[in-house]
Parts: sequence; structure tokens; C-alpha cells
Amino acid sequence: MFERGLLSDHNILVTGGGTGLGRAMALRYAELGASVGVLGRRTQPLEEVVAAITQAGGKAAWASADVRERDSVDAALDQLETELGPLTDVVNNAAGNFLCPSEDLSPGGFDAVVKIVLYGTFNVTQSLGKRWIERGKRDHARGYSVLSIVTTYAWMGSAFVLPSACAKAGVLALTRSLATEWATYGIRLNAIAPGPFPTDGAFSRLLMPGAEALGKHRVPLGRYGEPPELADLAVYLTAAPFVTGECVTIDGGEWLNVGQEFASITAQPRAQVKQVFANMRASTHKPE
Ligand code: HXC
Ligand code: NAP
Repeated sequence: MFERGLLSDHNILVTGGGTGLGRAMALRYAELGASVGVLGRRTQPLEEVVAAITQAGGKAAWASADVRERDSVDAALDQLETELGPLTDVVNNAAGNFLCPSEDLSPGGFDAVVKIVLYGTFNVTQSLGKRWIERGKRDHARGYSVLSIVTTYAWMGSAFVLPSACAKAGVLALTRSLATEWATYGIRLNAIAPGPFPTDGAFSRLLMPGAEALGKHRVPLGRYGEPPELADLAVYLTAAPFVTGECVTIDGGEWLNVGQEFASITAQPRAQVKQVFANMRASTHKPE
């Protein structure tokens, strides 16, 4: 889909880059020539991604940090920039989530998720943004890119994941707010809203046996997303010089399907649906 070498002048940080969607983005960025920094709390998955990239001939480094802690973020950025050179782009991908009735949430539970998702995104974005503003515009065409991974319930809201829904909505607001405020510094901010991608991190915490949530049948295209598909979208948004303030959904049509009044009818055989509609039309009262 992209020319090899497309990202050869990029140094890209992926938070939560050791697992799941973050790992897929890190590998794809490196394949296209970027140097990649991955950051998370556990060292083992980060080391594994860096080893995979370097074995394939790419350049990568890892740093262990908790995005909730500003000092930890600053130290990790210093370390990665020492190893890779100045960072040019970031993907705010690190997240925390679990299912919990909102009336049973402890203040600490709300705090944990909002701090990882919203404060973590702010910490990483502002810490890097300050460095970029101080260094000056990168180049006219490309600039610096901040890409944040949200989800479709950032605008829909969702039962049982209240802290995540609040935090992802905040990340979307951060994206759109800074897209205008920081354009003058050549910094672009975009978001991706994925539908269901079966990663261990998400599905082990969110897939409830017997519930229809995260079911393939909700997706009009009839399947789950594959991480490399999302990684290609991330590459596009990181490289696209005139796109900012945008949130692109990649969900096989899921949110439109479950959000629209009559969309559930698409699950019935189409011939049967047409017959029922025709019967309804025939029996509809017509004005004299
Ligand atoms: C209720 C819970 C809980 C649960 C933790 N807590 N798990 N409350 N139900 N299942 C509460 C604890 O009681 C505590 O509050 C507080 O949360 C912090 O708990 P810790 O275990 O100390 O948290 P910590 O080790 O910091 O871990 C954070 C975490 C954990 C969010 C709880 O799940 C995590 O590390 N997650 C990272 C990866 C992840 O979640 N990936 C999924 C992303 S998927 P108190 O008050 O007792 O101190 C995603 C997809 C969205 O976002 C869209 C899908 C379509
Ligand atoms: P994942 O594998 O659990 O990814 C989460 C990553 O965040 C992990 O690598 C984790 O590493 C890191 N992380 C969590 N807390 C952190 C902290 N405090 N500091 C630093 N790093 C932290 O799940 P995923 O499915 O790939 O999710 C990736 C992104 O996609 C998230 O933003 C998620 O909300 C979004 N998303 C996923 C889906 C889906 O269906 N999979 C759908 C919509 C949106 P450590 O635990 O080692 O820190």
C-alpha cells in the first residue's frame, strides 16, 4: 500500500507499543523506514518488539514508563531521544479499561483508567509538543504528528466502561482543540476510532461470555478488524501533511449499524426483508 522508505525521516514514539495494536503499528512504521520508540510499563513485550524490528534491519528502542506519571514520561522521552535522535511523531495508544457497573466503580478505578487514557495522552502530547515548539517547525510539508487511538464510544458513550468513555471523549476533545491551536507550530493532531480488534489486552478484559458486545454479527462487514489494517491507517495519518483535527473510524461499519434505528434489520435474509417490506407497502393505507 505504501512505498518502502516513506517514513525514513520519521522517529515515531508508540505508547503501549509492546502489545496488540501498538505493536502492529510499531512494526509497520519500522517496515516503512521509521525509527521507532516503544513505551509501556512491562519491559518484556517492549524488548520483544525492539528485537523483532532490529532483526528485520530496522531501528528501534524501548523505555519503561507509566504514562500517568509526568516525570516518568519525561525521563522516557529523554532516553528515547538519546538513543534514536529527536522524535518527530507520536501515537497515543496506551490505555486501560475494564467492565464495571458505574455504581460499583471505586474512585480509584475511575482514576486509574482516566489517568492512563486522558492524563497519559496529555502528559505525552504536551511533553513532546513543548520540545517541538522549542525546536521550531520541522519542514513545511510534513510537520510533527500526534495520533491518538480512541474508540467509537468516544462520541456515543457506552454502558459499563464509563471511565474509558469519559477519557476517550476527552482525548478527542484534546485532538480537535490542539489541531487548531498548534497548527501554527506545524503540529498535526488526528485520531483513529477502532471497532473490535481481537487483541489479548482488550478481549481478555471486555469480552463477556454470552453477551453480544464485541460480537462479529454487529459488524456489517462480518468480521473483526486485523491489526495490520489499522496500522496502515496510522501510517497514512502520520504522513498525510494536510490532514489535522480528524478522527477516522475503522470498524467495518459497526457503530453506524448498532446506532441506527433500522440497521439491525440487515441481519435478516435480504429476500425475506424485501418480501416483508413489499407486504407492508401493499397493506399501507393510502389517502383517498
Ligand atoms: C473494577 C477495578 C477493576 C475491575 C481494577 N480496578 N480492575 N475495578 N473492576 N475489573 C480498580 C482497583 O480496585 C483499583 O481501585 C484501581 O482500579 C486500580 O487498580 P490496579 O489493579 O492497581 O490498577 P493498575 O495496576 O494500575 O492497572 C490498571 C488497569 C489494568 C486499567 C486496572 O486493567 C491495566 O493495566 N490495563 C492495561 C491494559 C488494558 O486495559 N488494555 C485494554 C485496552 S482496550 P481502588 O479504588 O480499589 O484502589 C480498550 C478498548 C476499548 O480500551 C473499546 C473496545 C471496543
Ligand atoms: P492492549 O494490548 O492492552 O494495549 C494497551 C497498551 O497500553 C499495553 O501495551 C500496555 O502496556 C499499555 N499501557 C497500559 N497502561 C499503561 C500505563 N499506565 N503506562 C504506559 N503504558 C500503559 O490493548 P489494545 O487492544 O492493543 O489497545 C490499544 C489501543 O486501542 C487502546 O487505546 C485501546 O483503547 C484502543 N482500542 C482497542 C480496541 C480493540 O478492540 N482492541 C477497540 C477500540 C480501541 P503495559 O501494560 O505493559 O503498560
